Amino acid sequence: MSHHEALKYSASVGIQHEEVLLFERIHEAATSISLPGVEGTISEELRAFSRQKSANIPGLSEPETVRHFVRMSQWNHGIETGFYPLGSCTMKYNPRVNEQLVRLPGLAHIHPDQPEESVQGVLELLYELQGWLGDIVGLPYVTLQPAAGAHGELTGLMMIRAALDARGQQQRRKVLVPDSAHGTNPASAALCGMYTVELKSGPDGRIDLDELKSHLDSDTAALMMTNPNTAGAFESDIKQICQLVHDAGGLVYGDGANLNALVGVARPGDMGIDCLHINVHKTFATPHGGGGPGGGPVAVNEALAPFLPVPRIEKSGDDYTLLHACDRSVGSVLGSIGQVGVLLRAHAYISAFGHEHLHKIAEDAVLNANYVLHRLRDRYHVPFDGLCKHECLLTDGLQEKHGVKTLDIAKRLIDLGFHPMTIYFPLIVHGAMLIEPTETESRETLDVFCDAMLEIADACDAGDTDVLHQAPIKPFRRRLDETQAARKPVLIWPE
Ligand SMILES: Cc1ncc(COP(=O)(O)O)c(C=O)c1O
Repeated sequence: MSHHEALKYSASVGIQHEEVLLFERIHEAATSISLPGVEGTISEELRAFSRQKSANIPGLSEPETVRHFVRMSQWNHGIETGFYPLGSCTMKYNPRVNEQLVRLPGLAHIHPDQPEESVQGVLELLYELQGWLGDIVGLPYVTLQPAAGAHGELTGLMMIRAALDARGQQQRRKVLVPDSAHGTNPASAALCGMYTVELKSGPDGRIDLDELKSHLDSDTAALMMTNPNTAGAFESDIKQICQLVHDAGGLVYGDGANLNALVGVARPGDMGIDCLHINVHKTFATPHGGGGPGGGPVAVNEALAPFLPVPRIEKSGDDYTLLHACDRSVGSVLGSIGQVGVLLRAHAYISAFGHEHLHKIAEDAVLNANYVLHRLRDRYHVPFDGLCKHECLLTDGLQEKHGVKTLDIAKRLIDLGFHPMTIYFPLIVHGAMLIEPTETESRETLDVFCDAMLEIADACDAGDTDVLHQAPIKPFRRRLDETQAARKPVLIWPE
């Protein structure tokens, strides 16, 4: 068996076991903990709080409990068990050295409220990271506080709002958001007390200049844009776009979640962006999911710098200090200086490449995405012509006539051993499949994935669609009724 065949085989074996919930295994006699009996009598007041009926907590022995959780952890599809081409999420491999580093006792066992003099080493690393991020994006003033991309968006918009207010322009509350944007963009604007106007994308999936011009006026606070956008396309009119917004008195907020395509090659600040968040948990190797952990540092230009959150990490001589109050600051946006574990992993990932090799991240990510695009473009519909950046966008346009939809293709990928790509996003194309391989995957892995996609396309063309409609057929949990799951979720265990 060749390595390629072995990869293909192991990818296709899939999940083979079933695991019942612990609550389905209740036998109360057993227990892995022995609690001491109650000494003396319980007062009347306390008795009022005592439980009237059993808590129905599963009584399992220690090995049963451990085995349950270890088995569950092994059935998770993670970046360490297989390819995870989730577009817009940058699920790249998380190098082990990063993990070793953040587990060093001097880093792992510190507390946010420790005196500054006892955490000088961590402050030094974070200060260094601030500087590197500023350099990488061309916006030198950086806060590391926000705990996620969306949190970075909110923080950035708070700064923009404060800056406009300081100019006496309290009427500027309109935020323009392209229809291709991630849902967090309009949500963050709304949370910041602004209102959004959607910009319809042009036929190439990019911002349409006429559409933009028609919405720019004296109420415009900002344009929120993602570059490359969520269709994997570079906004080639970026300089003109920024100029138009600036001429209208607004600011340009850059959603830097897709920095993977640019890092070390091009800098948003040089393109005219005023304020940008960076999803360090994506670009710098802490794959995220399930809401975290994350880090969304925000980098800004000089005009916005006074509004940065506090505390700020500063350096004076050889010492690092935290500046807790600053006149025009928007205040604190997190209980601490940031998600230190995620930030330190980012520091480690950047250090591993070094200043002169950082560009390899973007180059390999873009190359990998274009390789996948090239291998699949004749068998899947490609909505926008040309090369892509770090992710490629396909649709089910060629499969639809056989009654096969994006959802069927994604579910079948589970049987073939892959985490599906992102589906039905961005919303500007029908039946979107957004594939982001990242720079960390080998050509061999990409080939096995593309073979699986081609196998699905072949099955479709041969009319062999039953299996596609039923997929996934290998895991014990089969296709869910997603509408019911969303509309009538069962969130509590029925007693
Ligand atoms: C383009 C874009 N913007 C914003 C976000 C929000 O980031 P987070 O999930 O960290 O809040 C994401 C998430 O991946 C994204 O892809």
